[in-house]
Amino acid sequence: MDPFASPHNLDKELYSLLAEASSNLCEWFAESGSQGPMPDSFDLPEASPAKEGVSNKVLLSELQLLMKGSYRPCHPGSLAHLDPPPLSASIVGELICAGLNNNLLAEELSPSLSSLERNLCKWFCEKLGFGNLSGGVAASGGSLSNLMALVMARNISGLASDPSAVFFASEDCHVSFSKAVQIMGLEKESLLKVPTDEKGELKISSLSSSLKKIKSEGKKCFAIVATAGTTVRGSIDPLSEIAQFCKKEKVWLHIDGSIGGIYGLSKITSEIVHGLGSADSITVNPQKLLGIAKTSSLLLVANKKHLSSTFSTGLPYTEPITGNDFHGGELGIQGTRSAESLKLWIGLRQLGEGGIEKILLDSIRRRCYLESIIDSSKFKIISGPLHLLAFTPINYSYSQASDWSVQTRNLLLAKKFMLSRPLYGDRYYLKAVLGNPNTKFDDLKLLANLINNSTT
Ligand SMILES: Cc1ncc(COP(=O)(O)O)c(C=O)c1O
Repeated sequence: MDPFASPHNLDKELYSLLAEASSNLCEWFAESGSQGPMPDSFDLPEASPAKEGVSNKVLLSELQLLMKGSYRPCHPGSLAHLDPPPLSASIVGELICAGLNNNLLAEELSPSLSSLERNLCKWFCEKLGFGNLSGGVAASGGSLSNLMALVMARNISGLASDPSAVFFASEDCHVSFSKAVQIMGLEKESLLKVPTDEKGELKISSLSSSLKKIKSEGKKCFAIVATAGTTVRGSIDPLSEIAQFCKKEKVWLHIDGSIGGIYGLSKITSEIVHGLGSADSITVNPQKLLGIAKTSSLLLVANKKHLSSTFSTGLPYTEPITGNDFHGGELGIQGTRSAESLKLWIGLRQLGEGGIEKILLDSIRRRCYLESIIDSSKFKIISGPLHLLAFTPINYSYSQASDWSVQTRNLLLAKKFMLSRPLYGDRYYLKAVLGNPNTKFDDLKLLANLINNSTT
């Protein structure tokens, strides 16, 4: 048994391995509805390789163990996180990507796919309102895109060697910014958290006074981060106002649109994220709502040159690239990269603009419906304009809310609904992310009924 596909003949062994593995995957999808989001229990295959390689039959049966023990994003009750089921074309894209095994590090290792990534980023840039100089690069996840944005902002502002330089983000910003502080060798205090209002949106008046304060202390600011879609409630910071402020203060604006950026792709929903195009950089994370298989994240930049001037070191072991472009490996932190844009591209082609719009609108509809049937006399419900909401019983103490959240999450799991349990502000909430296209209104009715009866 040759473990590599023949480069000369149609490899029958690969052919039947793929056919059987695909058939098992289809079965896995088909049985998911009758299971729950989480497995009740699971067995693991041997982790280490045996002395001799095992047969395809053994491989397939070991794979089945892992599949049975996996989380099922396609179950209609899977509503806990930003992990929707994958588009079928995106699954194919991932498979072909593995087979091609091209490397987005350099043009010579991915001739068509490097160009595809460039063109796809350009399309996103235009859709979200960036101009002619714009471009972008794919990175493995929103955290990495955000980190690259901050490194670039600090470099472009000339503050890379200023240990006292700071950046601002709202108190509801994603934890990836705290991680970036660690990685960038900054002091913990370099991330200045700006309070949010009752809608969970960054307070621009507080931003203004905080900036004045740090200036009076002789410190400099290299970026302001606005969030388009916060992690717990999907709030959108006032993007246009923050953009005007950044322009006046000559500070880099990064928009973390990991959750909400994608709403800029449809004319109907783009008003919700108005102002995206005024940023210097935007993170967009199609894996979180559009059903692109993980990982899929883009860092888009109003002026593409800022990526290369920050990250390019030259790649002396590859052929120089023709024209003004840079190798993909010179536009970000990663060197070797898989061709993630392949599954993004094919997924978007499968959906078309109409299909993208439908996902966005249906997700908002589901959130509005659930919000309308959760009993607001019993629960405080927090939500922005997107597809996320969180709720907690009114008048419970911290510890009562904590106990309620654990018990209700378990009760819902037993009924095959999975919600997450964020600590937000001074208490625990349960959070539902309504981006799963398999969730129907009848499922939501059932869910709301369980929630409404969860308090004493
Ligand atoms: C607002 C926001 N930004 C960034 C991220 C990080 O994305 P990733 O998990 O892909 O690194 C998340 C993750 O949930 C998020 O909610």
